[in-house]
Amino acid sequence: MAGSENVVAVLGTGIMSAAMARNLIEAGLKVRVWNRSREKAEPLEESGATVADSPQEAVEGVGFVITMLADAGAIAEVLDVDTLSRLAEDAVWLQMSTVGEGGNEGLAALAADAGVTYVDAPVLGTKAPAENGQLIVLASGPEEVRPRCALVFEPMASKVVWLGEAGAGSRLKLVVNNWITGLLGVLAETVALAEALDVDPARFLEAVEGGPLGVPYAQIKGKMMIEEDFPTSFSAKLARKDTGLVLEAAEKRGLHPLIAETVAKRFDEAIRAGHGEKDMAAIFEAVKLR
Ligand SMILES: NC(=O)c1ccc[n+]([C@@H]2O[C@H](COP(=O)([O-])OP(=O)(O)OC[C@H]3O[C@@H](n4cnc5c(N)ncnc54)[C@H](OP(=O)(O)O)[C@@H]3O)[C@@H](O)[C@H]2O)c1
Repeated sequence: MAGSENVVAVLGTGIMSAAMARNLIEAGLKVRVWNRSREKAEPLEESGATVADSPQEAVEGVGFVITMLADAGAIAEVLDVDTLSRLAEDAVWLQMSTVGEGGNEGLAALAADAGVTYVDAPVLGTKAPAENGQLIVLASGPEEVRPRCALVFEPMASKVVWLGEAGAGSRLKLVVNNWITGLLGVLAETVALAEALDVDPARFLEAVEGGPLGVPYAQIKGKMMIEEDFPTSFSAKLARKDTGLVLEAAEKRGLHPLIAETVAKRFDEAIRAGHGEKDMAAIFEAVKLR
């Protein structure tokens, strides 16, 4: 793999992937980016990335390819066996999007068909942690490539947790996402309840701040709900996708998580009302008094 180790292809230049690519460039890696909508990739040229015209061109001879796209369907549209066969010998595919259990299995099978080493590595953290190189990577995959992956993970992460065989990362990500979206759903209902009871919801946030009930996440998302201003760190549309992945994994094992079901319905309602591209906190729009 002489010379290709420090060449990284980043497929996707969305909220997360653009920030991740910038941190890789700052760490001195050679980065090629590709995005379906080319104009969203072009600003990265100024930061030092090479913008490729196709996924094939992006991955030609690279030591690592990172996928950070919306979902498993998008990745399957972008990568096939032929494209993956263009990577350098011994290259590693770091699949960092949130794709759930079934999505991960399908993509791992694609990697196996192409003879490419596959690391399942979804992340915790949103836009600001991605920009600041403070993501938490939930990595799983073959032991022999783990030391090598540090080259790519270190510039983007404050912590890398290696969990076992590929798939373990995606399973833990589902668990954390259930926690996050459940919290968001109850926060939206709590802010709406405060308003309905003629209690200033800012007083609720003040009352819990700093104590054991005062989750910092509630302060961030709660303020968005109170102001009804939802600049996107993580879109409601993709949060709905993640709730669906939680439900799929839970139901496969005979669990019927009613809170996740309700949250999914609330997201559907918010998306139908035109809030899908806004931050996930816009779930509040489906909950508040009309
Ligand atoms: N934002 C967060 O806080 C966060 C945190 C942890 C994990 N994640 C996960 O990270 C992944 C990316 O999230 P994000 O927030 O960065 O999303 P985003 O800003 O909406 O970006 C989505 C990316 O996927 C591409 N895409 C969508 N459908 C496609 C298709 N059919 N074919 C090719 N490309 C397609 C988009 O291309 P276009 O530009 O052409 O639309 C864009 O590059 C998701 O799996 C998400 O669940 C996000």
